[in-house]
Amino acid sequence: MTATPYYITTAISYPNGTPHIGHAYETIAADVMARFKRLDGFDVRFMTGTDEHGQKMQTTAEKQGKTAKELADENSARFKAMNDALGISYDRFIRTTDPDHYEASQAIWKRMEENGDIYLDKYAGWYSVRDEAYYAEDETEERDGQRYAIATGTEVEWTEEESYFFRLSKYADKLLELYATQGYIYPESRRNELTSFVKGGLNDLSISRTTFDWGVPVPGNDKHVMYVWVDALTNYLTGLGYPNTEGELFTKYWPADLHLVGKEIVRFHTIIWPCILMALDLPLPKKVYGHGWLIVDGAKMSKSVGNVVDPIALIEEFGADAIRYFLLREITLGQDGNISRDALINRINSDLANDLGNLLHRTLSMAKKYRGGVIAKGTEETAFDASLEEMAAETVKMYTAQMEAMELSPAIRTVWAFIARTNKYIDETAPWTLAKDEAKAGQLDSVLYHLVEALHITSILIAPFMPVTARRIHAQLGFADDFDAVQLADIAHWGRVADGHMVGTAKQLFPRIEIV
Ligand code: ME8
Ligand code: MG
Repeated sequence: MTATPYYITTAISYPNGTPHIGHAYETIAADVMARFKRLDGFDVRFMTGTDEHGQKMQTTAEKQGKTAKELADENSARFKAMNDALGISYDRFIRTTDPDHYEASQAIWKRMEENGDIYLDKYAGWYSVRDEAYYAEDETEERDGQRYAIATGTEVEWTEEESYFFRLSKYADKLLELYATQGYIYPESRRNELTSFVKGGLNDLSISRTTFDWGVPVPGNDKHVMYVWVDALTNYLTGLGYPNTEGELFTKYWPADLHLVGKEIVRFHTIIWPCILMALDLPLPKKVYGHGWLIVDGAKMSKSVGNVVDPIALIEEFGADAIRYFLLREITLGQDGNISRDALINRINSDLANDLGNLLHRTLSMAKKYRGGVIAKGTEETAFDASLEEMAAETVKMYTAQMEAMELSPAIRTVWAFIARTNKYIDETAPWTLAKDEAKAGQLDSVLYHLVEALHITSILIAPFMPVTARRIHAQLGFADDFDAVQLADIAHWGRVADGHMVGTAKQLFPRIEIV
């Protein structure tokens, strides 16, 4: 049986500065989905990267006395390093300055031009460099002699230049049909907003600039570079070998299953992107998911407030898995969420060191103390065994449904309910009492077996969230060899641990952290 393909992407970040915790959050969430799908037997392709062109990059570089390419090189490397430190399992880290991306971008341009969807005219209107976005007059407001985009609060400047246009307006009806498709835009609430926006009428889109030159040159007219969003969105095709639509990558993975992006750029992915794809006669992505924003100590991250959280520093202090766990446990995907250092430390101490760490430690210590680390199968059951087995099966089922629906925080809670149940099982069965009574030896065997089995299941379920920790648990349980080969289907049934299985030695997973 060939595995079903699954193509997942994140937004590609502007490397005009260093990455912050919001960028980390997005790639972690995508990585969790990618790892879950692999665990569930899918053939996954996962892409992330940096969006390096545009006026913002050029202006920032000039201020720092660098070329835009130097600025991009410097910060793109930082984004890549952040992703590597977080254990992000991308298949390609794409940079829009990669040569194959120029080729793909120019190819889509030519194709849209052949299709009659591009014409030359003059643009006059408001542009926000920070958002790299055009705004209509009524989307802006004036305060103290400066105009701002109402939606984002960024400064806009009046722009008048010769420009190529894309016939976006032509596709309005098809867009509305697309929005009517259940599940294309997530969360669903954004769908109404977009529907009324499109119903309000779409203007053709200015897709080239002449007042700076940091971009992909427009084929056949070197005076123009492509509007940064046109080349940026194309990255999803570049990564599959476009313009070679007959190649292995493209035929296998297009259309994308999921574009995971921040809520403020859902519009670009649900208006401009599908229209470009329609102009290219390509199938449309299956889902665009808009996640919420992280705020820190109750405030939007900003340099002036001084609350910008550096993910690298956090990883160095607490480890990547703790950060991954914390962000996805604490914040409901699709909603904004607040983070703080205290909340992080509380999660590490209570959920990771206490609930999970102690369960593993108690189990392995008892297995060693009472049975020399050897786990026997199939002996006399206790009254509590059946209920633990039942809950394990329900946990796997519920977790799978939640993960499929991208309910990541609820899925974690499902696993932690099982961990709590397993801890309670130790108290109920009181192995230390069974150990004192020779007649209860069979029951003690069964309890130890159930604990190792429950922890084995737990280690697989947490693997998408905490890949390093999952592997360590697996190794401590004595399963070091086949961790990467385990699939979700393998834990659907109780009893994978073999009779006579030998567990390893307990080592602390997460040290408790003192709040100072
Ligand atoms: O928008 N919380 O790049 P970008 C959560 N280059 N997510 C956040 C965040 C926060 N505080 N701040 C930013 C761009 N993000 C374009 C994308 S895609 C073809 C081009 C997320 O660097 C943001 O929502 O401004 C976006 O999805 C991603 O980081 C990159 O943002
Ligand atoms: Mg942004």
